[in-house]
Amino acid sequence: MRAHNFGAGPCTLPLEVLEEVQAEFLDFGGTGMSLVEMSHRSPEYEAVHDAALGLAREVAEAPDDFEVLFVQGGATLQFAMVAMNLLTPEQKAGYVVSGSWGKRALEDAGPHGDVYSAWDGKTDSYTRMPRSAEIEVHPETRYLHVTTNETIGGIRMVDIPELGVPLVADMSSDYLARPIDWRLYDLVYGGVQKNLAPSGMSVVYVRKAALDTASKELGSFLRYSWHAETLSLGHTPPMFSIYIMGKVLARMKAGGGIRAVEHSAADKAEVIYGVIDESDGFYRNPVDRAVRSHMNIVFRLPDEGLEKEFLAASVEAGMVGLKGHRSVGGLRASLYYALPMASVEFLAAFMTDFQAAHG
Ligand SMILES: Cc1ncc(COP(=O)(O)O)c(C=O)c1O
Repeated sequence: MRAHNFGAGPCTLPLEVLEEVQAEFLDFGGTGMSLVEMSHRSPEYEAVHDAALGLAREVAEAPDDFEVLFVQGGATLQFAMVAMNLLTPEQKAGYVVSGSWGKRALEDAGPHGDVYSAWDGKTDSYTRMPRSAEIEVHPETRYLHVTTNETIGGIRMVDIPELGVPLVADMSSDYLARPIDWRLYDLVYGGVQKNLAPSGMSVVYVRKAALDTASKELGSFLRYSWHAETLSLGHTPPMFSIYIMGKVLARMKAGGGIRAVEHSAADKAEVIYGVIDESDGFYRNPVDRAVRSHMNIVFRLPDEGLEKEFLAASVEAGMVGLKGHRSVGGLRASLYYALPMASVEFLAAFMTDFQAAHG
């Protein structure tokens, strides 16, 4: 039996994708080899690679003036790489610190450029997102960095700031689960291990014009332009992640594309927030309702003892990954793209029963 997997990433992948991979695993396309055993220069792999690049553009609806890059390493590498590439010594970059990940992005960019906090949600314990008017953009700001979904705090950026400065966004935890307004961005990145694939890389969308002014003083791997020029095949790419991501993206496309993913995410989230809101305070979601994440639902129970009991009983019932992040405690249900509605309903029924027994 498959676990109901509410992990914050890595997490559940579509069952039919895993089954396809299983069927192809020992002999990919009649080659007598697994895809993970073959050269990344082979025509068979190149076809997989090109298809995945094409689908990453198509599903995201990325326009032609953006490059699509597969960069080994997770979003954490991008925290530094963005600043290394985009900032000149005269320029600054503002960071919206909307939670743990926004903070990490700012800290990691620090050694590579003149970066500053343009807004910090600390006084509200990172339970809300800023209004545009609250964000302070300094002169000579090259980009404003935002995190569209804070995986740990469970909030999402609903109103994307339009302040006349290009945005750079970490979309790791709601990647391709909402349409992207490309007008606003110079660069979008995210690790793939939540909505898209096994861990091992980031997908980076970068405006071509931003590459013209990007730093040339970096080793090849650290330059976005090198990944663009080599079509992300300048070195041995993370073939297994790319292979599986291609299949997940094809499934997204067949299911109606990014808007269909968005609707399904909203529907799934609604089920769990519904249980929380109807629980008379037994379950508490501590964040501003207007920015409740559709991907990571954080909730508390009346006391930590009950939270422990809830967690143990959830594991017993066949659910995994419901423990809140170690930095904040409580519970968290991550409802990424591949999580079936049946798992969401299973959790909802479990929550209702648990309250009936302990409320
Ligand atoms: C929003 C966000 N940004 C960045 C990261 C770090 O990503 P990685 O582990 O791929 O480096 C995570 C990981 O969970 C995340 O949720």
